[in-house]
Amino acid sequence: DLYNFRLIGPDTKVHGVIGNPIGHSKSPHLYNAAFKSINFNGIYLPLLVDSVANFINTYNSPDFVGYSFTIPHKESGLKCCDEIDPKAKEIGAVNCMIRRPTDGKLLGYNVDYLGAIAAIEEGLQALNGSSNTSGSLLAGKLFVVMGAGGAGKALAYGGKEKGARVVVANRTYDKAKALANKVGGEAITLAELENFHPEDGMVLANTTSVGMKPRTDQTPISKKALKHYSLVFDAIYTPKWTRLLQEAQESGAAVVSGTEMLLNQAFVQIENFSGVPAPKQLIRDVLARNT
Ligand code: ATR
Repeated sequence: DLYNFRLIGPDTKVHGVIGNPIGHSKSPHLYNAAFKSINFNGIYLPLLVDSVANFINTYNSPDFVGYSFTIPHKESGLKCCDEIDPKAKEIGAVNCMIRRPTDGKLLGYNVDYLGAIAAIEEGLQALNGSSNTSGSLLAGKLFVVMGAGGAGKALAYGGKEKGARVVVANRTYDKAKALANKVGGEAITLAELENFHPEDGMVLANTTSVGMKPRTDQTPISKKALKHYSLVFDAIYTPKWTRLLQEAQESGAAVVSGTEMLLNQAFVQIENFSGVPAPKQLIRDVLARNT
């Protein structure tokens, strides 16, 4: 039932996730199930692609309407768009592309940053109890982003957009500094982060690869330093529970797993592709069944 074949016809809109490797991707399961449940006449394929430019030029028909980009193609996706959302341009990475029906132009977005920030905001909301605050719960908060690669940029720009005071902590100081300058934040090294606690209740996001499978025994920050944070987010989703999240929880912080970012960015893309709200619980259930 992955591709829901009975629905494929001349009007079916083709979507897919472009990456290399791609066989492991859960996205086709999530998107096809969502399309079916909302009665949207579309399919979503895993697309093993070497050259994004060649692929996009070859499949230039109006039936090919939407793509997601994953490793290693988030930067090359950027170069193939006719128009780029200003935030994706700032971040330097596109992970969602949509063909505009009116003129066939390809529009690029970054939904990683939306997904991650939405996951963190939901975590803060749960922490605050039911909240009727207008505006972001990140506004005014000290938001420490570990890592300054693609995901680090997305989180730092997202935090800035929500009015957080951003601190970039990276192993290599120069990369932290370059990113901090761009978002009007502060830069420190990961080593300095161990003794960085200007205030309590800060929010921490890990975007480094430290703790990812198979090195699940590692963590980017000591448990001792975690007691100053009210919420800790890890962009890693393999494993779902990293050592960082485990120790953050033991230190009394609220924790948000990278799977929440994965889900939230899928919700945004499914809404972008189909034009209707994503069936969120169904997508959660499909992910749970396929992991
Ligand atoms: P992504 O696009 O997923 O963010 P990336 O661009 O390769 O991936 O960035 C990886 C990040 O993880 C970088 O911030 C990197 O730190 P450096 O800039 O110092 O390389 C960080 N990182 C990777 N391995 C690390 C390790 N063992 N210790 C600390 N930081 C690490």
